Parts: sequence; structure tokens; C-alpha cells
Amino acid sequence: MELHLKDKVAVVTGASKGIGLSVVEGLVREGARVVAGSRTATPELDALAAKHDVTVVPVDLSTPEGPEALVRKAVERHGRIDLLVNNVGAAEPRESFLKVSDEDWLKVFGLTFFSAVRTSRAALPYLLAAEGASIVNISSINARLPFPMVVDYSAAKAALTSLNKALSEEFAPQGVRVNAVSPGPVRTPFWTAPGGFADATAAAAGTTAQEALDVVVPQSMGISSGRITEPHEVADLTLFLASPLAGNITGADIVIDGGQIKTL
Ligand SMILES: NC(=O)c1ccc[n+]([C@@H]2O[C@H](COP(=O)([O-])OP(=O)(O)OC[C@H]3O[C@@H](n4cnc5c(N)ncnc54)[C@H](OP(=O)(O)O)[C@@H]3O)[C@@H](O)[C@H]2O)c1
Repeated sequence: MELHLKDKVAVVTGASKGIGLSVVEGLVREGARVVAGSRTATPELDALAAKHDVTVVPVDLSTPEGPEALVRKAVERHGRIDLLVNNVGAAEPRESFLKVSDEDWLKVFGLTFFSAVRTSRAALPYLLAAEGASIVNISSINARLPFPMVVDYSAAKAALTSLNKALSEEFAPQGVRVNAVSPGPVRTPFWTAPGGFADATAAAAGTTAQEALDVVVPQSMGISSGRITEPHEVADLTLFLASPLAGNITGADIVIDGGQIKTL
């Protein structure tokens, strides 16, 4: 399917691994030009930059100045922005709400919510000047399924989904579509990194991290398809929402969770 994203200028946050990296891969496959922000590069992102128009920007997006610096780089390099993918976010497994400090809450909101606020605020003047521009926010099913194990992250994602709608209400009439993608568990370093959620689930279930991801998580979370989502599947949905093919979709929040959410 032709997505009509050739030569579009895209800013992707959290672009070096996982879903962000898959979004970059998908965008360059479509011929888009990408400005990719994360604290560090990875060999995979560097390999894409060696072959395609990908500008790798080392930036800490949890800081007040990081998002603006990323947008500035994009404008310096390309003079415009057509697409913003607010992807960066992170959670830490919590034992109890009672053990989550103010500092913990602020850290999670800083990266998962305020990075999207700040990047959107910096990019919107350029998106408004572009033709057919859009924002895609990578939220989570935890926005509507708040788990105690990620109490702070769930609240930050609920805030992001709310922001998604408010930005669509204000800016869709001015030509910028704003949509969210809400994944269930996705096979990325978020789960697979040492000490991540796969290890925590494996320890609780007395099994390996691989078995936890392939069997325990789908079963215990009621994932109807019987498997977690792959990063390229989230990227494909993101690219579709960014494409003019989705030209009258705005303010939407599309769940990709293998049927984990059971309600309408
Ligand atoms: N994986 C899932 O199961 C899942 C499910 C639902 C929603 N999501 C959401 O999808 C998004 C991507 O998740 P993922 O699973 O792909 O995560 P991931 O594999 O942990 O990758 C996170 C990316 O963000 C970057 N990053 C982290 N902290 C940063 C910072 N302070 N400044 C700049 N970049 C930073 C990382 O690179 P550096 O470390 O080099 O900075 C990396 O490129 C997140 O918003 C997450 O909440 C994930």
C-alpha cells in the first residue's frame, strides 16, 4: 500500500530502540526523512542513518529543554516538519502505590507525558505551516487499564490520551490531525532488557523471560490472540495514521492489544 509519505519530514522521539526504531525503519522504507531523538544511538539506528536520510540527535527528552532542541535540529536540517511521533516513554515495576515517591511520579510524568507536551508545543508552529501534517502519540492500554504495578505510568498515559484529544480539537480545524496508538505488551527492550518486565514476570512465575513473554503474559493478561504485539505492527499502524490515507481520522485512539481489552 502506498502511504504517500515520500520526502515528508518526521520527528520521532525515543527512536533508537523498540517501537521508535521500528517507526524510523517504516518511515525510511516509505522514503520519508527522519530526525530521530534519543539519549544514545544504537548500531541499528546508526545503520539506518548510514543508508537513509536519518538525522540522529542525542538528546535527553525528559528535560525541559530537550524536546525544543530536537525540534530545532529538525528545522535547521530540513526547514519544516510534517509529522511528529511522540513515542518516548518508560515505566518501572512498582511494588505498591505507597512506595512511589513524588520524585518517582515526577520522573515518569516528565518522560512519558511532559516530553509529548513540550515536543508538540515546539513542533506545532511548523506542523501548522505544513500541508497535511499530523501528530501520532504512542500511548498505552494502561491509559484505560490502570495497573497497580505501573500506577504512575498508567496515569501519565491517561494524561497523554487526554492531551491527544485536546490537541486534535484545537488543531484539526487548522489542518493538523492528531491521533494516538495504544498498544498492549510489545516485544521491545521495555520488556526484554535485563531487569525489565519480562524478568519480573519470569521471576514471579518461576520461568524464563522468553517463556514469560510467549506464554505467561498472553495467558495471564487475557490476550485473545495468544501473543504479544511485535514492534513493527505498532509502527505499521502509526505510519497508516500519519498517512494521507487516514486523512479524515483525527482525535482517534487506536488500541493494538491482541484483544486484551474486553470492553467496547
Ligand atoms: N513495549 C510495550 O509493551 C509498550 C506497550 C504500550 C506502550 N508502550 C509505549 O511505547 C513507547 C515506546 O516504548 P518501547 O517499548 O519501544 O520502549 P524501549 O524499547 O524502552 O525504547 C525506549 C526508547 O526511548 C529512548 N529514551 C528513553 N529515555 C529517554 C530520554 N530520557 N530521552 C530521550 N530518549 C529516551 C530510548 O533510548 P535511550 O535509552 O538511548 O535514550 C529508546 O530509544 C513508550 O511510550 C511506551 O510507553 C510500550
